[in-house]
Amino acid sequence: MTAEEGCRLGVNIDHVATLRNARGGSLPDPVRAAQLAMLAGADGITAHLREDRRHIIDTDMYRLKEEVDLPLNFEMAATEEMLAIALDVMPHAVCLVPENRAERTTEGGLDVASLKQTLSSFVDRLSSAGIRVSLFIDPEISQVQAAQDIGAAVVELHTGTYHEVVLATRPDLIKQEHAKIQASAEEGDRLGLEIHAGHGLTFDNVQPIAGIKQIRELNIGHFLIGEAVFMGLDRSVREMKRLIADARTGMLV
Ligand code: PXP
Repeated sequence: MTAEEGCRLGVNIDHVATLRNARGGSLPDPVRAAQLAMLAGADGITAHLREDRRHIIDTDMYRLKEEVDLPLNFEMAATEEMLAIALDVMPHAVCLVPENRAERTTEGGLDVASLKQTLSSFVDRLSSAGIRVSLFIDPEISQVQAAQDIGAAVVELHTGTYHEVVLATRPDLIKQEHAKIQASAEEGDRLGLEIHAGHGLTFDNVQPIAGIKQIRELNIGHFLIGEAVFMGLDRSVREMKRLIADARTGMLV
């Protein structure tokens, strides 16, 4: 397997900021977590600047760009406020996500098919600035096709439902959800999109997703930061990288 066929790990450090904000002040520092994740083998850093700034705040984004020597994936809602910040920070990539103030986390993918006009203006303005644009979508063929129609370079497939059916130990539904993710990844790849995936991935459920060969990047946060409390961030990132690499090697057997 060539390096091009591997699957990168993007480490989402939002919840280091959640812990910091629980007390106000500056500790623990999400930028330090990003630097440690890099030393442990992370291929990129992801952070979500939410409208309510519940975890990541504006200065974190600027510091992540300046102080961490890894590609920065800036997750944001498609709003003019966020667009202006992204164009100022100039991250490697922007992942557009739906955002709802009351939600605990991003609850579903973007309905690209019905928001084509609005989203295409964001895709155009970010892409013209040289930022790679990803759309976070549910694993549905129609959404993949709509993402390609409006010129996105990347789609990130939402694995939240997969995570839930694994937790519920429903083999029938796990098979069904995995098949949807696989079919969406194949369709996106056929259309020339780069395929990413993420949400709710853990040591226990990551391998069947990492084993889908069209998926080139996984973005993982909550579990890795939670596990860092027990084993340290270095070990949690290294173990996730090992599981992903093993799943890719398994593809060749
Ligand atoms: N990808 C996207 C687009 C997300 O919004 C999130 C959650 O912030 C993740 C990946 C990571 O999800 P988790 O924190 O459950 O690993």
